[in-house]
Amino acid sequence: MRERMIVALDFSTMEDVKRCLGQLEGQVRYVKVGMELFYAEGPAVVRFLKEKGFKVFLDLKAHDIPNTAKGAMKSLARLGVDMVNVHAAGGVAMMEAAREGLEQGTAAGAPRALLIGVTMLTSTSREMMNQQLAIPGTVEDVVIHYAMMTKQAGLDGVVASPLEVPLIKQAAGESFVTVTPGIRPAGTDNGDQTRVATPEQAFRLGSDYIVIGRAITAADDPAAAWQRMVHRVEADQ
Ligand code: C5P
Repeated sequence: MRERMIVALDFSTMEDVKRCLGQLEGQVRYVKVGMELFYAEGPAVVRFLKEKGFKVFLDLKAHDIPNTAKGAMKSLARLGVDMVNVHAAGGVAMMEAAREGLEQGTAAGAPRALLIGVTMLTSTSREMMNQQLAIPGTVEDVVIHYAMMTKQAGLDGVVASPLEVPLIKQAAGESFVTVTPGIRPAGTDNGDQTRVATPEQAFRLGSDYIVIGRAITAADDPAAAWQRMVHRVEADQ
């Protein structure tokens, strides 16, 4: 299960990354590098993590015109990351171009990184989506629509709330990958996330990968928080 539990390294310095990984005593296998860390430390942090043997999800959520998205993915492919993503809101042509870029940038013989579409951020509520983004309907309807667009463009799966996974699998098929942030162990603060689940619930709902940030990295004892989480998930299998 550990290969399916991705820890979000939402830090802005290499020192903080090293401190966090040191606290976790080599137990974590898959990490996520997001905008905060990548914009501060650049490709060097990805190379560092790959040299240390981690699988890396590079969560930069590209969203631009198709040609730019294609170039972006070509550059990221060269870093040898394991998973990257684009916003499904960029549309089918942009996602197709991103996939082409990723394929072109991947070294011959190397596996292509999983390409994942972001549906609706897990911090988005229905009210925010309807009123601010002017998208009518329920969040679930829009997530399914985006998931089907993502599949049509030939991507591997989507980022979504764990609560939406059963609907996504039903619509797009079991092999369509789901990556789910918005993970909160029972009894912890939701923070800015609104559509949340515990790690056990997320896997029971069918998530292929869960992304855990502050529940581990901001815990008083990250190693203890991680171990508790792994035990609960494994006991639930
Ligand atoms: O601290 P927390 O567990 O809320 O962190 C969730 C991580 O997942 C953050 O790095 C955030 O950027 C990312 N994420 C998300 N919702 C998405 C895509 C990524 O929360 N739809």
